[in-house]
Amino acid sequence: MLSATVEIVPTLNEKCAVVSGGAGFVGSHMCDRLLKEGCRVIVLDNLITGAERNIEHLQKNPRFTFKNQDVTRPFEIEGSVDFVLHMASPASPKDYLEYPLETLDVGSTGTRHMLELAEEKKAKYLLTSTSECYGDPDVHPQVETYWGNVNPVGVRSCYDESKRYAEALTMAFHRVHGVRTTIARIFNTYGPRMQLKDGRVVPAFIDQALHGEPMTVFGDGSQTRSFCYVRDLVDGLYRLTLSDERFPVNLGNPQELTILEFAERIRRLTGTTAQLDFKPLPQDDPKRRQPNIGKARKILGWEPKVSLEDGLKETIAYFQNLPSPVLAR
Ligand SMILES: NC(=O)c1ccc[n+]([C@@H]2O[C@H](COP(=O)([O-])OP(=O)(O)OC[C@H]3O[C@@H](n4cnc5c(N)ncnc54)[C@H](O)[C@@H]3O)[C@@H](O)[C@H]2O)c1
Repeated sequence: MLSATVEIVPTLNEKCAVVSGGAGFVGSHMCDRLLKEGCRVIVLDNLITGAERNIEHLQKNPRFTFKNQDVTRPFEIEGSVDFVLHMASPASPKDYLEYPLETLDVGSTGTRHMLELAEEKKAKYLLTSTSECYGDPDVHPQVETYWGNVNPVGVRSCYDESKRYAEALTMAFHRVHGVRTTIARIFNTYGPRMQLKDGRVVPAFIDQALHGEPMTVFGDGSQTRSFCYVRDLVDGLYRLTLSDERFPVNLGNPQELTILEFAERIRRLTGTTAQLDFKPLPQDDPKRRQPNIGKARKILGWEPKVSLEDGLKETIAYFQNLPSPVLAR
């Protein structure tokens, strides 16, 4: 039984949200939700890993504004702002390994600029942090009170430590300046508008399956992941934004699968006969990943609703309908 203490406001008419990273995968779905709730939305995005096609369908909406803005550079927003959502950051291993300095900058300077905006406008603030804060966890499933096992000098540290710093800065702004902050620790999420070639396992498997190519499995495939459908995640982010919670809250789907089980699901749903291609595990790749979402259940009345089967079907359909230049290799 869920016991929600957060009252979900049915409409955000006349409210304004500034969303950094709103042209990205998760950010664009968050914009859809905020607009649906009646909010005005201003997106700040430099498109380093996002794409204008993710927000093309919003461009004609009079309540939607897109600004090509790097949030690590100074910027100003006119008028009142009610919500500041800091979602900008390269997020897939392929992206943050390609842009380690930009990733650290957006987690540090970018986070500071977004917090300063929230302070100036007296707005509520949400940081999209990550389960990577737990590193290769010794505690399973991961609970918010676990402090993590992160390699601070490994290749992935640009992302993990950027987010850990962003969390620390967020808490400091709350403690020192009284900003109404909140922090989501997001676990693996999938769905339409992911980049096909971002190196994450869902689009990689689907891409290879649709092209009838061998599906690459790192290690022996016994490592686990838990995948949350993006619509479920966005509902959690929305509820968290409206809540008064100050400490991190895990958002993800606790249904844990091995990578091999996952590959089998995609083979079945795409009908591919492609074989598996085993490659060595990348450095610091977590062996297990599963959120404990007890806190989100209790304080937000939230839990994922979309089954893996339904979410994968929608995602595969999205990739199948992409224009051929995007699908081309
Ligand atoms: N997708 C997941 O499974 C997942 C898991 C954990 C955490 N997250 C977090 O959620 C957020 C969104 O992730 P995503 O998967 O949508 O990634 P994404 O790469 O699709 O989106 C990130 C967006 O941020 C923008 N951006 C990056 N640096 C910027 C800067 N300096 N200024 C302005 N815009 C900038 C990019 O152009 C992109 O549009 C990130 O903060 C990420 O760390 C995502």
